[in-house]
Amino acid sequence: MKALILSGGKGSRLYPLTYTNAKQLIPVANKPVLFRVIEAIKEAGIDDMGIVIGSGENGRKVRAAVGDGSQWDVHITYIVQDEPKGLAHAVLIARDYLGDERFVMFLGDNVIEGGISNLIREFKNSDYHAQIVLTPVAEPQHYGVAELNPDGSIKRLVEKPREPRSNLALVGIYMFDPHVHEAVRAIKPSWRGELEITDAIQWLVEQGYRVHPYIHRGWWIDTGKPIDMLAANSKVLEELTPEIRGFVDKDSLVDERVTVEEGAQIINSVVRGPTIIGENTRIINSYIGPFTSIYYNCVIEEAEIERCIVLENSQIKHVPVRIADSLIGRNVLIQRSEFKPRALKFTLGDNSRVGLI
Ligand code: DAU
Repeated sequence: MKALILSGGKGSRLYPLTYTNAKQLIPVANKPVLFRVIEAIKEAGIDDMGIVIGSGENGRKVRAAVGDGSQWDVHITYIVQDEPKGLAHAVLIARDYLGDERFVMFLGDNVIEGGISNLIREFKNSDYHAQIVLTPVAEPQHYGVAELNPDGSIKRLVEKPREPRSNLALVGIYMFDPHVHEAVRAIKPSWRGELEITDAIQWLVEQGYRVHPYIHRGWWIDTGKPIDMLAANSKVLEELTPEIRGFVDKDSLVDERVTVEEGAQIINSVVRGPTIIGENTRIINSYIGPFTSIYYNCVIEEAEIERCIVLENSQIKHVPVRIADSLIGRNVLIQRSEFKPRALKFTLGDNSRVGLI
């Protein structure tokens, strides 16, 4: 079996972070979501992976970060998509790479509990033409939605329906045999101008092919929006095995579920887990609350932060109020200003969001 990972798209719901980075490279518990996807596929026994990337800067960033896959001992082929024309379009352009093999398609921004080994095993040992993964969600209108027959088979699949007929969302993990290539050629672009994989699967169902719905009971997060990113970060942090590889001084209080990576220093601070402090990051006279991931080369000094993701090389210093539920990009500086007038002073990228108290 092969794998097709989708890492194109614009990531517009994560602006401004995704102006300068691919959304799939934003780390969750200090590891890019895309790396977690590659590791889950490798763990399921697949080491031949195609990655669909955009033709611009984001695509180049993905190539630079993932390389040829040797860091995971897997083989990576890149497939360049000129525009994000839809998930089924990605399958269309990957035709040569995929050949006539069965494959798993994994959206590069999805994080799922428990990996995909069971799913792959079930599909491999079956005669299904396709297998989809469904899970109950609170707001199905934001996803592809499946309506099932009383016997559990698929009745209908609709992409982001205004009035969902069930609460079962399509998770971004799909398994196909070569019949899907016929399906992606048969469908037309949707109202949003994309070739929808949901429509291609609906086509398979209508043609009488066996499409098996697998119901996933654990957690699953599509990290499309900042709030989802923080939720995924919390879930993954809870699963992390804590380890102290950096330095914690005797005046600090670091509880059990905290990972301190190499070269990190915790000085006179309180750190509550689950939390991860990245390589060469320094925490000085501060409080780091649960569900926080601070990436490498950061400085947090005289500040309190909680349930945040802070990306590399950022500094938060002498901030008089606690920062919570925030996604802070790379090379960001947040600090108390000594200069008059006393006021909040911002240099914010386009589409930034600031929540004041
Ligand atoms: O996450 C699950 C949902 O993913 C499903 O419930 C929906 O049925 C499915 O259509 C998809 O919806 P999204 O609106 O969340 O898809 P998004 O545009 O965010 O793209 C998903 C991933 O695929 C993301 O990593 C970017 C990549 N992508 C997307 C498009 C449209 C590509 O590589 N090429 C593309 O053309």
